[in-house]
Amino acid sequence: MEATARAHTNIALIKYWGKRDEKLFLPMNSSLSITLDRFYTTTKVAFDSALKADVFFLNGKPAVDAETTKISRFMDKIRAFAGEKRYAYIESQNEVPIAAGLASSASGMAALAAAAVKALGIEVDGRTLSILARQGSGSACRSIYGGFVEWQKGEKADGSDSHAVPLLSEDDWDLSILSCLVESKQKKISSREGMKRTVSTSPFYKAWLETVETDLAAAKSAIAARDFTMLGRVLEANALKMHATTISADPPFLYWQSATLDVMQGVALLRERGIEAYFTIDAGPNVKVLCERKDEETVYNALSAIPSVREVLVCHPGPGIQYGPFPT
Ligand code: DP6
Repeated sequence: MEATARAHTNIALIKYWGKRDEKLFLPMNSSLSITLDRFYTTTKVAFDSALKADVFFLNGKPAVDAETTKISRFMDKIRAFAGEKRYAYIESQNEVPIAAGLASSASGMAALAAAAVKALGIEVDGRTLSILARQGSGSACRSIYGGFVEWQKGEKADGSDSHAVPLLSEDDWDLSILSCLVESKQKKISSREGMKRTVSTSPFYKAWLETVETDLAAAKSAIAARDFTMLGRVLEANALKMHATTISADPPFLYWQSATLDVMQGVALLRERGIEAYFTIDAGPNVKVLCERKDEETVYNALSAIPSVREVLVCHPGPGIQYGPFPT
């Protein structure tokens, strides 16, 4: 009645931006990501009939109420799926720096879904696990697999065809992802809230939907051909389009800080020097820069030299769901 699972974070190259069903976490568009090796969540779940509610420990301490409520709501969905009544002890260890601008919700919800299902002794395939993880946080459905992953939006109202599929394993293309942490004082608008406002108010949202599937197709061709230039161009353009929908929302909002622009310009300068690097940005000010492994050191040095960049964390494609025990 107890199991441990580990899931790694992922970073979207073609963004999931907008829901068609908020309760089931069904997206308006398909998306594409890389799972990262460096950041992950390890979660232990133990069901216990003596418990009157779920108990959640995060990084060795009892979690705050809001976190426990969020986790417990997701556990309710897992219990409904499994026909289970018991509550559980849940212990999560996040190897994701909170300030890294890398969503720990993706790795967190994926690890929780995997550990809970395993603890209940239910055998599930990747597709089923992905559908389950999606209902904790949309991007979590992609963290079930390693390497390059597509989340196919699906068509059905019950979400049974909205799940991730693996495109290329983590060993199949040697890319580097450099996560640039910048200073930020601004209060954050969560991606959940941001995408909701955008869908309902931005006149550009329609244009986002009209072009995102074309971007996805181009990214998939680029990945199949290992064409880094083609992939870089489309991922950068796709990120900018996503952010154009926030600037045009009502009220408008912008995830960028001046340091965000410093990194974007740093990447442009690298390209002027003939070094291929491309950026992407999620619902926060930090910038993730992609390059080929051979250019990693040059790109790292250039980004680290930008005064407004606090730290550059180097990642590579990482694995999908793993089950414990893990060596400590
Ligand atoms: C900008 O998966 O965090 O990072 O489904 O509401 O939990 P919820 O949102 P979440 O949104 C991620 C948005 C994004 C783009 C992406 O990861 O595809």
